[in-house]
Amino acid sequence: MVAITSIASYCSVVALLIIQGTQGCIIHARQDSSSGNGTALPPADFMTIGTDGLAPPETLGYAINHFSLIVSNLTASKEFYGNVLGMRHMFTAQLSPHYSVTYMGHAHGGRNGTGYQTGAELLREKNNANGMIEFQYFAGSADVNITATTRRPNTFSHIGLIVPSLADAEKRMLQYGVTISKRIGLGAQGIESVENAFGFGPYVTTNETERELLIQGQEWVGFSQLLGIEDPDGNFIEVQQLVPPPGVA
Ligand SMILES: *[C@@H]1O[C@H](CO)[C@@H](O)[C@H](O)[C@H]1NC(C)=O
Ligand SMILES: *[C@@H]1O[C@H](CO)[C@@H](O)[C@H](O)[C@H]1NC(C)=O
Ligand SMILES: *[C@@H]1O[C@H](CO)[C@@H](O)[C@H](O)[C@H]1NC(C)=O
Ligand SMILES: *[C@@H]1O[C@H](CO)[C@@H](O)[C@H](O)[C@H]1NC(C)=O
Ligand SMILES: *[C@@H]1O[C@H](CO)[C@@H](O)[C@H](O)[C@H]1NC(C)=O
Repeated sequence: MVAITSIASYCSVVALLIIQGTQGCIIHARQDSSSGNGTALPPADFMTIGTDGLAPPETLGYAINHFSLIVSNLTASKEFYGNVLGMRHMFTAQLSPHYSVTYMGHAHGGRNGTGYQTGAELLREKNNANGMIEFQYFAGSADVNITATTRRPNTFSHIGLIVPSLADAEKRMLQYGVTISKRIGLGAQGIESVENAFGFGPYVTTNETERELLIQGQEWVGFSQLLGIEDPDGNFIEVQQLVPPPGVA
């Protein structure tokens, strides 16, 4: 559930402190969270920074390249990831009369590419790009009970999307009528779709004390400053800003 960029920027703060020989690191929780909670200071050791050494040399060059979703309506998924999130259709392989596999990607593998790339160019770079999305689609699937992560916790939690401006992204989602699970400024308190997607909803525990504690803990990494949206199947997409706003660890 923790924001990856938050961790990255927090880690660089920690690295700086370590370089300067400072012991420990305290993040001051946001005081102005509209969730009304999140005012308690986190314990100094709430975050553990990884200390793994070098990766096994045999894994040099390994990289996670795409993420795949089973979709219930390929047209709707292509429209959302394409028109709203700006991904481009790379290809659809129709493997049988009803079953297809589709890839979409941001130009230049999402690495701040501003230039247009054709589907053929994106496809040529496919294995050297990151952050692509794949759809598995079975038209007329008999399984009508595939349940989205926002409705029922499952092994998939959410997708992370980086944008230059969160405020602009929120406006865009509103314009397109995208389901917004969590507006910027709100905590997760009482938002069941967020609770399910992040694995602490009523299916997981009935302990409200634990839930309130962890919702408060989310503010230590600036959770309320994230934007939460849903794709057409109800998959949760956590939207973060490239340069985290003030108060986000
Ligand atoms: C958080 O705020 C809500 C609403 O203001 C309140 O009901 C709840 O008890 C608070 N939780 C904690 C842990 O302070
Ligand atoms: C699939 O999505 C498209 C685009 O949103 C919509 O026009 C169409 O009605 C949907 N099909 C079904 C079977 O829901
Ligand atoms: C993208 O790259 C250009 C050129 O290096 C830079 O000016 C711009 O700030 C970058 N944009 C983002 C969102 O990183
Ligand atoms: C789908 O789930 C509902 C509720 O759990 C159940 O009643 C129904 O029988 C399921 N349908 C199929 C086709 O599995
Ligand atoms: C609920 O969670 C809190 C915090 O972890 C714990 O102290 C308490 O014992 C739990 N209550 C129950 C009934 O398990």
